[in-house]
Amino acid sequence: MRIERAGKVGAFVCDVDLRGLDAGALHGLRRALAEHEVLFFRDQRLQPEDHLRLAELWGKININRFFRPVAGYPAIAEVLKEAHQAGNIGGGWHTDHSYDVEPALGSMLYAREVPEHGGDTLFASVSSAYAALSEGLQRTLLTLRAVHSSRHVFGEAGGYSGQTEGRIGNAEAAVQDAVHPVVIEHPASGRPCLYVNPTFTLHFEGWSAEESAPLLRYLYDVVGRPEHTYRLQWQPGTLALWDNRATWHWAVNDYHGSRRLMHRITLDGEPLSAFRGGT
Ligand code: SIN
Repeated sequence: MRIERAGKVGAFVCDVDLRGLDAGALHGLRRALAEHEVLFFRDQRLQPEDHLRLAELWGKININRFFRPVAGYPAIAEVLKEAHQAGNIGGGWHTDHSYDVEPALGSMLYAREVPEHGGDTLFASVSSAYAALSEGLQRTLLTLRAVHSSRHVFGEAGGYSGQTEGRIGNAEAAVQDAVHPVVIEHPASGRPCLYVNPTFTLHFEGWSAEESAPLLRYLYDVVGRPEHTYRLQWQPGTLALWDNRATWHWAVNDYHGSRRLMHRITLDGEPLSAFRGGT
């Protein structure tokens, strides 16, 4: 197994078949994920059963309430855009499940059909972005918590409502709100990570949305800078494994007229703690 850094965030793991990981390889991959925050594997040949086995080897599967599952596989979410459809799923910077009290660890996204051109996914490192902030701003952020919600995205009147042709559902289940530290200590790497995102974060705790917006916007601009990001070009058989606590992602919707089909398995996480180390 060989690991090649992709950029400031992400690494390609080469010479590995994800259908046959032994304990040593799994341990190496856990360390690599903590270090690089998202791992990419090319040329995998995974059936849904292999994908499920891989996820179960890593941890406990978290079944997303809102995504349509793959037929016959309730634990695998279908991330699909048909050629005739305009809207995609995940088409803006976000980190999955930040509206949960125990946010998901991450996801394993497997490419089954990809457009000839476009359909890339952007990843951003929120640890790298935090490290780029001034000491003064870091100190202020360490004192803050933020409120996250699923309601305005997956709820009846949410961003996806009426636009997904059944790909996103269960709007009545969009009742989750959670408060998390703005700077968390990453459970595996111990790094400080900026834990707010443009899709699910509403405001800082005790601040109005209006008061929160300028600072949140500044933080979002920093995270999205090219030096903290990597753009993955998918091929059929590519699998990306990302850590939600250390990264954001964005599925670029630039392939109208083509079909893109991905299978996603999400992994359970844990409650997040504020970063307590030195800055
Ligand atoms: C997602 O947000 O989980 C979808 C990412 C993608 O389709 O690239």
